[in-house]
Amino acid sequence: MNAEKLALSIASILLLIFFSLILYGAYVKNIELPTCKDTIIKVSENKYEVHYIARQFSFFPMELRIPKGSILDIYITSPDVIHGFHIEGTNVNLMVIPGEYRIYCHEYCGLGHQNMMSKIIVD
Ligand code: CUA
Repeated sequence: MNAEKLALSIASILLLIFFSLILYGAYVKNIELPTCKDTIIKVSENKYEVHYIARQFSFFPMELRIPKGSILDIYITSPDVIHGFHIEGTNVNLMVIPGEYRIYCHEYCGLGHQNMMSKIIVD
């Protein structure tokens, strides 16, 4: 067996292992990829969870509206590159005062970085 056939065989075996691990994770371990379903969850009377997805070059959900006085737990994930999540005028460990809060990516992530924004409206 020449070196090219050996390399092709090793690459094929590694690909088979790779895809087998993905299927193992999906069907045996029930590991799910982040999705856009149930992004905003009402946990109790005035407590909410939001599950943001940051991907080049947007946040999902684009806008979030919660009642004044609510407690908001923010979870965020990214399926592509590293992004930032800065809530303007806060340190993200924030006291939410009624109003609109712009969110923007503070980590350069590519050509559309400057357009990556979202909004939380507390009213
Ligand atoms: Cu995302 Cu910059």
